[in-house]
Amino acid sequence: MKGIILAGGKATRLRPLTLVTSKQLLPVYNKPMIYYPLQTLLDAGIKDILIIIAPDYSGQFLNLLGDGSEFGARFSYIVQKEPRGLSEAFILGEKFIGNDNVTMILGDNIFLQQDFSQDIRNFNSGGLVFARQVEDPQRYGVVEFDKNGKVISLEEKPQKPKSNYAVVGLYVFDNRVSAAAKNLKPSPRGELEIIDLQKFYLDKNELTVKIFDGIWEDAGTFDSLLRVGNIVAQSQLTSSNS
Ligand code: TTP
Repeated sequence: MKGIILAGGKATRLRPLTLVTSKQLLPVYNKPMIYYPLQTLLDAGIKDILIIIAPDYSGQFLNLLGDGSEFGARFSYIVQKEPRGLSEAFILGEKFIGNDNVTMILGDNIFLQQDFSQDIRNFNSGGLVFARQVEDPQRYGVVEFDKNGKVISLEEKPQKPKSNYAVVGLYVFDNRVSAAAKNLKPSPRGELEIIDLQKFYLDKNELTVKIFDGIWEDAGTFDSLLRVGNIVAQSQLTSSNS
């Protein structure tokens, strides 16, 4: 299993903070944001990791993370010149993925006390994503289930969500994903959408959606950045008091 951290993008919602550095290098309590998704991959036993970054501040990522040896891992880097969508990660990462399966995590998605290692180790082929109940499903890819828990539909940022289950930013795919990504057409907002890759596997009946209820934050807004910083601070306080 290879790993990708997608840490490019423009981070317009966090301006002016992101006029001087990248979103994924901003502090979340006492660590740069990217440490959290990195730890999620490392905890899942993934050691060969491609980090996709935007051209601005790319040197800061190298200074911070280096070749990965400090983390007991191996890091490679690719610059994504323009944010053409999440699915482009699998095109840029095609050679890196090679004949392996791949887990991609978004560089601003923070999972706390969540262990994906079992699911990732047991993955053989197809696609595996995780969904969580949220209060604002309009912001995310939304999964609709039938009464037996089978996935009926997937919709990106729907105005009228059919459920409140959002797909979180950790995706496991087999190595057909790069070819599938190359066949995608950009959406009306001009991006190669990750939901279209999930549909590629859903159409083949090869998509598994697992529900989880652990702590998850997409740290891409001021409010969520502050919230997740407080959650981390609180959990460290609790663990140092116990
Ligand atoms: P978003 O939060 O959707 O986009 P963004 O980071 O550019 O922020 P904003 O909407 O405020 O402008 O991206 C989710 C994650 O994926 C984040 O870590 C950035 C990354 N990303 C890329 O690396 N390349 C891309 O083409 C896109 C769209 C996102």
